[in-house]
Order: sequence, then structure tokens, then C-alpha cells
Amino acid sequence: MCGIVGYVGNKQALSVVVEGLRRLEYRGYDSAGVAVVNNKKLDVRKKAGKLTNLETLLGNDPLPDSTIAIGHTRWATHGIPNDANAHPHTDVSNEIAVIHNGIIENFSELRAELQKAGVKLSSDTDTEVVAHLLNFEYPKSNNDLAESMRRVVRKLRGAFTLVAVHAQQPDVVVGARRNSPLVVGRGNGENFLASDVAAFISHTKNAIELGQDQVVELRHDKVTITDFEGKPAVTKEFVVDWDAKAAEKGGFDLFMLKEIFEQPKAVAETLVGRLSENGKLVLEEMTLSIGEIANIEKIVFVACGTAFHSGMIGKYAMERWSRIPCEVELASEFRYRDPILNQRTLVVAISQSGETMDTLMAIRHAKSQGARVLAICNTQGATIPRESDAVLYTRGGPEIAVASTKAFLTQVVAVELLSLYFAELRLDKPTTEIKQVMNELANISHQIDVVLDTTDAVKELAKKYMNAQSVLFIGRHVGFPVALEGALKLKELAYMHAEGFAAGELKHGPIALIEDGIPVVVIVPSVRLEKELHEKVVSNIQEVRARGARTILIVEEGDDSIIEFADHIIRIPQTSSLLQPLVATVPLQVFSCALATLKGHDVDQPRNLAKSVTVE
Ligand code: M6R
Repeated sequence: MCGIVGYVGNKQALSVVVEGLRRLEYRGYDSAGVAVVNNKKLDVRKKAGKLTNLETLLGNDPLPDSTIAIGHTRWATHGIPNDANAHPHTDVSNEIAVIHNGIIENFSELRAELQKAGVKLSSDTDTEVVAHLLNFEYPKSNNDLAESMRRVVRKLRGAFTLVAVHAQQPDVVVGARRNSPLVVGRGNGENFLASDVAAFISHTKNAIELGQDQVVELRHDKVTITDFEGKPAVTKEFVVDWDAKAAEKGGFDLFMLKEIFEQPKAVAETLVGRLSENGKLVLEEMTLSIGEIANIEKIVFVACGTAFHSGMIGKYAMERWSRIPCEVELASEFRYRDPILNQRTLVVAISQSGETMDTLMAIRHAKSQGARVLAICNTQGATIPRESDAVLYTRGGPEIAVASTKAFLTQVVAVELLSLYFAELRLDKPTTEIKQVMNELANISHQIDVVLDTTDAVKELAKKYMNAQSVLFIGRHVGFPVALEGALKLKELAYMHAEGFAAGELKHGPIALIEDGIPVVVIVPSVRLEKELHEKVVSNIQEVRARGARTILIVEEGDDSIIEFADHIIRIPQTSSLLQPLVATVPLQVFSCALATLKGHDVDQPRNLAKSVTVE
């Protein structure tokens, strides 16, 4: 949830760290803080609110020059977002500074022990205890900060990334990782630590994934990684495959808008090289063997939020193409209901960040029950793909805005690809049939471009509904997850009451919400391909109109049968039914973004949220 940066090298450390924090601010923006070491003295500045508050503070109360620094942006868990609870936290000697991402579950016990020993704590956070514990362990570890960290983390329960510096060690940054992300960036005469490669990508693309339960000691010319016991650790180096520009706004006012407009490219990238010359699907990194795929009896998609909606589409696609029975489950519910899993179950975890704690815990549970796990993920080196048996990467590039847009579309592409692949291998589907869908997918980028041409019209529509109290979204078949996604976007960005329903469910309760003037967005299925479904949706539209609703219809080109039922029409290109979400979701993203902008909200960093939810 929080963003962490550490630096030691030959540059002005503070600028490197603040620049890194800017790129990580999407992970949390309740407060920000930095610590530097200069002349064997530790200095900290921290401030509640967004990074800009910290920058103002640094302007008024500058820090001394330094070549070593750590920095943090916070998404609050323990303690309200005020200055005192902002990171870094320091020990009583004011020589150690610590930043943290995650939750230390046994912090109350540790806090009580420290208080008993006479330590006066100055914040409500779980993090501060680590600073004091490091202070206790430091002399016992021969003044070795990395060894002190190993001793401390062995006492902690929960999920954490911790990074610390000590005033007496001006060339050492120490990090520790359990269940929370931490990546090392290897530079020339400088090294970096961060929650995400975005923080250091403008300095180096050479990175090392830190594994579970590892401690890293960073010096300007050396990186040493051990396990929590101090034994040398096995690590994996990789080269980041996108550049710094990808994490910048590129002329757009908002990351979200930029990412909406990047969708044609993101979808196209996710499709590159997936079809061989002989018409067979190629999912290179998806290392499940033919035997393993043949063995699958049931697939369970697990994910959270937007990724859950792509899992719902995955169920439709997988059952349609491969005929393997599927379930879709919210990752946060999965392990608590004791699901029935065995070696013949494939759990497909979908996650943009690859770090969502609920999803991570779900796959760990699945593995403990003998299930195979496949990750659909956008982030190289993240924990979820690393702990899965196989992975299918979406190639959306960095998604910075908190609201998921291009990640969703690329996830939909990935579940379609996976479904077709399993169909090819298990059912011996004729290549012509698969080729036809692949051809259609190849054209989808262009079709998304066409939808993006409606952006101005959708923005105008948003103006009309700026004061709506509530907006409902309805759809059937894959239109249902699209409706859920439309409602989620509106809630998280415009802070408006919004609900998504399966259109057929309206009459079982939600229709009571319909009152005069309420906007209802309807995802209309194709009249060419889904005549029966189309008729049912038309009936649902009439039901809500009869009760005073204003209808905003998302309808494919050429469907004129619907015009008389529409207060507003947004046209989308004709696609096959299972691919319709790839075009139908786009105007809903624009609608929410526009409404949030009109209301003056911070679209990229909506209140109370963080991009990557690394706590349960
Ligand atoms: O990184 P993940 O895909 O695992 O994240 C899952 C959800 O937290 C995420 O999709 C969230 O719902 C989005 N912010 C919604 O726009």
C-alpha cells in the first residue's frame, strides 16, 4: 500500500528519493517523509497529506546534502494520517530511521514490551516499534545494521517491507521483506531499493527481485542479500522492459486519461506473438504442460476489484471455449470458506500489481490444498507470479492511476487467450475457429480507437448527470461484469452512489431504486448475435423507463431497433459477444473520469484508496 524508496550512491540522495516518491505516490498519499544521513547525523522531514506538502516543508526547512536517503508515501493502517504517524519513524537515540509497508500483527505485544522497558513512543503506528527494536539489537549485532534487522524481523509477525538507515553507517541502507514488495535497482556506483521499479527506472533498468523473507544490505558499490537467518539468498536478476517515459503523463492532464488512451496499444502488445504461422496459439511464458492442462477438472478465477470483473468475463470465455467448469471468487472470500480444491483444480489469479494481499493469500491457500496456480499479471517480478506455477503476462505497461483501465482490458484479452489455448489443447478446436477469434482480436485495438473518438460526447453527457444522486448500470451475460466495472469506476472516482446489476435481477429487488430522472446505463448485447438476450434487455430498458429512469445505452453500430428506448446513445463497434467488454467498458471509464474531473476530485489519487492493496 505504501511507497518505499531507498538510495545510496553518488548523487544528491534527496532528489533521487523525492523523484522516486513522486512515481510511487499512487501507492498511498496520506503522508510523505524522508530521512538523510550527513556527517553521522540523521535528519528527518515528514508531513501529512500529499507529497507536495512535504516538498513545501523541504523548501522551508531544507535538509543537508547527502548521498544516502530513504523516503515513504503512506496509506494509513495504524494511526490517523497526521505528521506524527508519517514515516520515517526514529528510535529514542534519533540515530535510526525506519519506513514500512504492511502490517506488523504483533505490534501491540511489542509496543507493550517496549513501554515496559521505559521507551516512550511518539506515534500510534506499528512501524515505530521497529525503530526501537533496531536500537536494542544494534549493539548486540556488533553495530551491524543488517544483522540488527535480521534479529528484529525474526520477532515480527505479519506482512512487511522495512527499510532503515543508521546515522553511524553513512553508506548502508538495509531492507527486509515478507509478503510485501521490495525490488533492488543496481546502478553504477549507486544502488536503489523501492516498492516498485517505477521509482528508479530513470536511473537503472537492472533489477533484482527480493524473495520472501530476505534481508538486503545496500552500499553504493555492493548489494548483499541473505535470508532472515543470515544465509546467502538465491535471487533473480531481471531487466525492466519499459522505460521511464511510460510512467509519465505524456501530455495528458491525468494518468487515468493517458492510460485510457493507451488501451489500443496495451491490448495490441498483449496479443503480439500469440499466434504461430501454422495458426496455433503460443503462450510462451505459460509453462503448464499439456498433461497438466488435460488434467484440469475445474478452474477457479480469484481476484479483487476490477480484476475480479475480468475473472467474471474469464468464466464466460473459458466455459464457452474450453468447456471446463469455472467458478469466479473474490480473493478476499476464497480461503475463508474452505473451498474444495485438489490437484485437478487450476486456480487462475488475476492481478495487475501482482502484490494484492487478498489474492496472494488465496493462491497460497490453493497451493496448500494441492491446486495448480496460474497468474495473469501485469508486473514482472511481482510476488503473485513468482509464487504461481505458471504465468501469463499482460503487457499493459505501468498503470499509475489508481483506477484500473488498461489493466482491465489486457486482463480480458488474457482470459480470452487462455480460454482459446485450453480449447485448442483439450478439445482439438479447429484452427480456423481459433484463427477467426484471433483475427477479431487483432482488430480490437482499432475498434477501441474508434470508441475513443466518442470521448468528447461522453464528457458532454457527464455534464448532464453531474448532480445525479445515484447511477445504475445494468447488463446481461458479459455485459453484467461491464456494468459492475462501470459502477465501480464511478464510486471510486466520482464518489457517487452507483450499482451494477445483472439486468434480469432488476425485478427481484433493485427496480425499487428507480425513481424519476435516475440515470441507468445499459450495456446492450448485440442484436445480430444475441437476439434473445437483446430482447430481454429491451424489456428491462422499458421497465426502468416506465418508472421514470433516463437511459444511457451502450449499443453496437447498426442496432437501430433500440433508438426509441434511449435518452442517450453511445455507439460501440460490432464485435463478437465475448469481446464486447473490450469496447463497451471504454466509454464508462471516460464517463467516470469526466464526472470526477467536473466535481473537482483528484482523479489519479481518489480519496481513501491506494493502487496496490498489500494488506488483507
Ligand atoms: O493489482 P490488482 O489487480 O490485484 O488490484 C485489484 C484491485 O485492487 C483493483 O483492480 C482495484 O479494484 C482498482 N483500483 C479499481 O479501479
